[in-house]
Amino acid sequence: MKKLTDFYELNNGVKIPCVGFGTWQTPDGETAVNSVKVALEVGYRHVDTAAVYGNEVSVGKAIAESGLRREDIFVTSKLWNKDRGYKSTFEAFDKTLERLGLDYLDLYLIHWPANKAQFENWDEINLESWRAMTELYKAGKIRAIGVSNFLPHHLESIVKTEVVPAINQIEFHPGFMQSETVKYCKEKGIVVEAWSPLGTGRMLSNETLLAIAAKYGVSVARLCIRWCLQNGTLPLPKSVTPSRIEENTHVFDFVISDEDMAAINAMAYCGGSGLDPDTVDF
Ligand code: A2P
Repeated sequence: MKKLTDFYELNNGVKIPCVGFGTWQTPDGETAVNSVKVALEVGYRHVDTAAVYGNEVSVGKAIAESGLRREDIFVTSKLWNKDRGYKSTFEAFDKTLERLGLDYLDLYLIHWPANKAQFENWDEINLESWRAMTELYKAGKIRAIGVSNFLPHHLESIVKTEVVPAINQIEFHPGFMQSETVKYCKEKGIVVEAWSPLGTGRMLSNETLLAIAAKYGVSVARLCIRWCLQNGTLPLPKSVTPSRIEENTHVFDFVISDEDMAAINAMAYCGGSGLDPDTVDF
């Protein structure tokens, strides 16, 4: 990867820009509109939002006001947990499109798996959402469909359906690589997206990362984003600060050595969201 618009090719041939602009925890309104606009101005062509983030209207506004062609921006949103199921997935999808002011999505993800702590028939619920998403995909309303926060056992049934997920978006940052899930996804041809590539900011003061970043003369943020790419995952860094939004695009002008990659990959857990897809109660 040499620039933001270089891409991963999904299992259906769709091309996805290799770094996405994250909007989790970006407040709706002016902050969201301005940060997405800045992101598009500095070269991001891939924006990641979700119904539950509450900022789809603002993300849509920024896209509309950017002056860019719709087909030049890759837009992702996600089905929230309360909308799981066959019929409700169609309804939720329509509302997402309406809020974004778009007539198709590039990528739509099931945000969290229904899990066994919440539902006896968790697998069936996930399959029902997936069946609706498959129909929307076949109808041309979504260019690619996938999941988020799915562990291998949540994917087992879905990968046996006629459409294998193109993406699994999971928490991924130094000290939390979810290696088993990543390995499983790679074997199934599923691209892994990294949410919280900076550990929601928690990585930025880590001594090991600070020392390695200093060697390359880069910030820990740039190091983490680059580290995701060199591990074959697709980072979704989030910021509402224009200078940081721009800074985070500079991840193609240095290469982390094999030795430093190994050192980062060997890091022990040093903070994360603590959200376990098998036990979350939302
Ligand atoms: P802010 O949005 O206030 O600029 P993640 O992408 O892992 O979720 O991390 C997002 C957090 O990291 C946000 O708090 C964001 O702050 C902060 N952040 C993003 N980019 C940088 C950067 N280049 N330098 C310092 N902090 C950053």
